[in-house]
Amino acid sequence: MLVLGIETSCDETAAAVLEGGRRVRSDVVASQVLVHAQYGGVVPEVASRQHLATVVPVIRSAVSDAGVGFGDLDGIAVTCGPGLVGALLVGVETAKALGYAIGRPVVGVNHLAGHLAAVFIEHASMSATPPYPHVALLVSGGHTVLFYVAKPNQVRQLGATRDDAAGEAFDKVAKLLGLGYPGGVQIDRLAATGDARAVKLPRALPGRDDLDFSFSGLKTAAATQLAAGAVPQGQGLADFCASFQAAVVDVLIRKSRRAVEREKLPHLVVCGGVAANRGLRTGLQVAADEDGFALYIPPPRYCTDNAVMIAAAGSALLASGARASLSLTVDPGLSLSWS
Ligand code: KG4
Ligand code: ZN
Repeated sequence: MLVLGIETSCDETAAAVLEGGRRVRSDVVASQVLVHAQYGGVVPEVASRQHLATVVPVIRSAVSDAGVGFGDLDGIAVTCGPGLVGALLVGVETAKALGYAIGRPVVGVNHLAGHLAAVFIEHASMSATPPYPHVALLVSGGHTVLFYVAKPNQVRQLGATRDDAAGEAFDKVAKLLGLGYPGGVQIDRLAATGDARAVKLPRALPGRDDLDFSFSGLKTAAATQLAAGAVPQGQGLADFCASFQAAVVDVLIRKSRRAVEREKLPHLVVCGGVAANRGLRTGLQVAADEDGFALYIPPPRYCTDNAVMIAAAGSALLASGARASLSLTVDPGLSLSWS
């Protein structure tokens, strides 16, 4: 089965062709980062216009890179939420028009289900894939959630952030440090040469026994420290990044360990843009070795937004007979729960 995935929920216009639900035939991502960087964050209206300009060329590249024609596709999977409403609409309307034109089924995919499916995408250094059920930590720019994953596209939420998402905290603190947008990856880079004990920052563990998160207090603490003096430079900047990253990572690891233990499921998947963070990846591997659970994290390319993961989640939906009608629409606040 050859499935075309289309992703336009935020600031990447992406299309990919996936074979058999896991073999990547093509993977095209047109990032809008440089356009939004001048505003210090994603401007929704600008994102929609950029998607409109690039979605067709990106799809054409994905199909031609895969060495196939539109007639060879068996179906189309498109992100229908959550995300920016105008951005999502560009992908969904394009997918429906294309599906109608080539006479192939379309399915709407929850972006979060896409992130959860990323761990099944085949790649060179892949070892094992997780069995079902498993526990998953989804950490991105908009979400920080722990899930019990029963089957593809069937999940139950175990806990979530009560305020900011982890990626949002990374981006906001990076902005205060003058690192530009998006800042998560810059903090990751600088943290590598910093001392994580240099700056004292809080670890918020709301409800010690539940699986929720809170990052707004940490963000405020970081902002207060920075407001008290000049923005650090050189080694001071690296130390601040390392300290902040450790504060986020510590909490993510503690709650993930608790979820694995509480659910008695020794298989943890970690996905979403923040799963690309090296501090988190290393720290989780140490925790997995100590506690004896298996850890599954996609390579960084499939942690951040891409269309391969949408095609992966969509392949499972198409295989189960799901079909969207021409009235498929977008839901910017779409949640993920038992379906
Ligand atoms: O999953 P994603 O690409 O988009 C959303 O669905 O939100 O996640 C983007 C988020 C941004 O906040 C970005 O700063 C963060 O992931 N991110 C990172 C790293 N790479 C991306 N955060 C920390 N370290 C990284 N290496
Ligand atoms: Zn995402």
